Amino acid sequence: MYKAKQFNLSGLKGISDQTLEMHFKLYEGYVKETNNLQEKISQILKDGNVDHEEMPAYSELKRRLGFEYNGMVLHEYYFGNLKKGGSGEADSQSSFVKAATISFGSRDLWQADFTGIGKMRGVGWAICYQDPTTDQLSNHWISLHEIGNVAGYNPVLVMDVWEHAFLLDYKPTERAKYIEAFFENIDWTAVEQRLLRPAIRKSHAA
Ligand SMILES: [Fe+2]
Repeated sequence: MYKAKQFNLSGLKGISDQTLEMHFKLYEGYVKETNNLQEKISQILKDGNVDHEEMPAYSELKRRLGFEYNGMVLHEYYFGNLKKGGSGEADSQSSFVKAATISFGSRDLWQADFTGIGKMRGVGWAICYQDPTTDQLSNHWISLHEIGNVAGYNPVLVMDVWEHAFLLDYKPTERAKYIEAFFENIDWTAVEQRLLRPAIRKSHAA
């Protein structure tokens, strides 16, 4: 059983408490539904196999589990990389900025790529991952919650761009304003702590 985590994010810049309260409720729904689906799947498995009769229901439950489970986890990453008093600028000496520079040529290019993904039409997420093999950063578009996640890649910075993330504060056409607000509230310490290994260490050793 998963338990919803608590996040104290009141007072962000450009993302209202009203939006956050609504968003926490949606997140709790993903936690609840993940638990429900796991329970239903365990009922089917109780007799030791998935028989022909059960297969359609089982398949649907498994597909929905991918959606709900990723919805739960991605929201935890998202809320976890925001904080009151956050900032748009990561410390230029941080491992994240060094990794972004190695991976993209500059921090600005990394941000242009990440922001570009955030503005893509569709329902989903912009995620900056660290490739565990090369330590490089890599930005990706995720449709819904589960389509496009790269196996084994480590999420470092996660931005929800479903409309529910900003619709109480901005118009549907103003996603760019929400993305600016998101950047004003990033907890770069949390981002830094997610790095598997600071990329710069490897690059210096090379
Ligand atoms: Fe969301």
